[in-house]
Amino acid sequence: MKKILITGAVGQIGSELTVALRKRYGDEKVIATDIRMPADKDLRDSGPFEFLDCLDPNHITRVMQIHKADTIYHLAAVLSAVGETKPNQAWKINVNGLYNILEAARQYRCALFFPSSIGAFGKSTPKDNTPQDTIQRPDTIYGVTKVAGELLCDYYHKRFNLDTRGLRFPGLISYETEPGGGTTDYAVEMFFEAIKHKKYTCYLKADTSLDMMYMPDAIRAMIELMEADASRLVHRNAFNVTAMNFTPERLADEIRKHIPEFVIDYKVDATKQAIADSWPNYMDDSAAREEWGWKPQYDIESMTKVMLDKVSDYINRNGALKSNLRGDR
Ligand code: SER
Repeated sequence: MKKILITGAVGQIGSELTVALRKRYGDEKVIATDIRMPADKDLRDSGPFEFLDCLDPNHITRVMQIHKADTIYHLAAVLSAVGETKPNQAWKINVNGLYNILEAARQYRCALFFPSSIGAFGKSTPKDNTPQDTIQRPDTIYGVTKVAGELLCDYYHKRFNLDTRGLRFPGLISYETEPGGGTTDYAVEMFFEAIKHKKYTCYLKADTSLDMMYMPDAIRAMIELMEADASRLVHRNAFNVTAMNFTPERLADEIRKHIPEFVIDYKVDATKQAIADSWPNYMDDSAAREEWGWKPQYDIESMTKVMLDKVSDYINRNGALKSNLRGDR
């Protein structure tokens, strides 16, 4: 019987994945863990929650010993823009944290999901239709840790026959919990500002193209990959997955179809722009489509419509985004 442990469960992905997995496998079967208590009542009260610091191997063993999980979704991580301000912390959490979790997975024979990213590519990678297997020489600490993570997961599969699987996520768009210091966060911010102030000042240039995905597609992708028939998986870790690609200008045009008075201007953040410029314009995700049937449901039009509705509701209920992670993860 499935028993799942999620690290980073209070984060942008974790807060929605926990709820989805509890719905699918039963509330008691999904152990949410993080280094901070969830602010959200549904998340906190719908099933088991444990404090868990991935940098402490003894702590991980204790939690595993109590809960006997057979699957781990390891989501605790530092994102790209914060990583550039705290490279030491990014390495510790993204690599040492993953290593500790892989070791626990090896001891307890758990399947492991690891999220990689478009950040695992760099300037020398082909930018258009970025292949599944290609040059990976990222020049951000975030990218360095993601490539190291992909390789570690491959190694544990090959060396210890561990069932490791993973995806290279694009920017993820959601409204429940704010992303914590990524380069692609502008897309989420734009929706909130469009509804609240009808104006947004973007930190990336108007024509910066990046891959994106609406969160329900990302949650489905993780679950489908972990449930896929292992014999079909050639790549296993680090599948390119995408749903849409757009520029800030294109997203603003789409929002303007619903809020005609919305205006965007630009005040470029040099660090974030350099990070975005080193990432693909759009990835080729045909390996994921062929090996486990990946197919996104949301494009820019349908995502924008739903996001505007959901963000309006959210602001009416809560006033602002939940600030679970701001800055320091
Ligand atoms: N959304 C992430 C970031 O911007 C990329 O994986 O850091």
